[in-house]
Amino acid sequence: MRLVVRDRPGILLASLGIAFATGCDPSVPDDGATLGSAQAVVAARPASHPLPKRFGVGRAATEADISVLDIDIMPDGTGLPKGHGTAADGATIYASSCIACHGVDLQGTSLGGRLVPAPDVLGFPDGDVPISTKAIGNYWPYATTVFDYVRRAMPLDRPGSLSDDDAYAITAYLLWKNGIVDETAVMNAETLPVLQMPAWDRFIVDDRLGSDRVR
Ligand code: HEC
Repeated sequence: MRLVVRDRPGILLASLGIAFATGCDPSVPDDGATLGSAQAVVAARPASHPLPKRFGVGRAATEADISVLDIDIMPDGTGLPKGHGTAADGATIYASSCIACHGVDLQGTSLGGRLVPAPDVLGFPDGDVPISTKAIGNYWPYATTVFDYVRRAMPLDRPGSLSDDDAYAITAYLLWKNGIVDETAVMNAETLPVLQMPAWDRFIVDDRLGSDRVR
């Protein structure tokens, strides 16, 4: 950001293309001094009161600070932590932490969306199914995203409260309920990334820059 220091406010307005009957002329050359904003602040201070090197606000982030926030999981599983869980463990967590909003049968309630496709929806034939029918089993391209999303965002009233084992267990439970793994399957950093989701080939990577979008 640049701070433009001018001695006559009228010239600033003029440079924005606003001409006034008072005689301000947009063609008046810019005779103000242009300084970087920090420089301008320093320049405005008397030499007897120099700015301190630091203001004593905040501190450098530690590795521990960063690791709490640096929890994203890539589609290929990069970033998955140690730990494991099965659908049986996940069922217990679901019953205590998720059921109130997502419903007994995972079909959703007024408080939270469905976590399995609606029974009468075949899947994701053309990508044009109404949003309310999109769910893990017919829309999510990567199983690893289930882990990432649930661990960072759910339960909605206590995000971040699930342990890594809890997140693997609830992921196993959701994948089982969506017909993607067996009830006894163990989810961990090795098994989760190799699962192929039903909708995995329904997406393309749009890595173009600019305003065009693939529809
Ligand atoms: C207080 C209500 C509430 C609770 C409890 C809750 N959720 Fe949610 N959940 C929501 C809402 C609301 C959304 C939609 C959030 C959004 O779109 O930003 C959601 C979205 C989701 C989604 C994404 C669904 C999709 O396909 O878009 C998943 C998966 C999910 N929740 C899993 C869980 C799990 C697992 C638990 C328990 C550990 C849980 N939720 C507990 C309210 C809740």
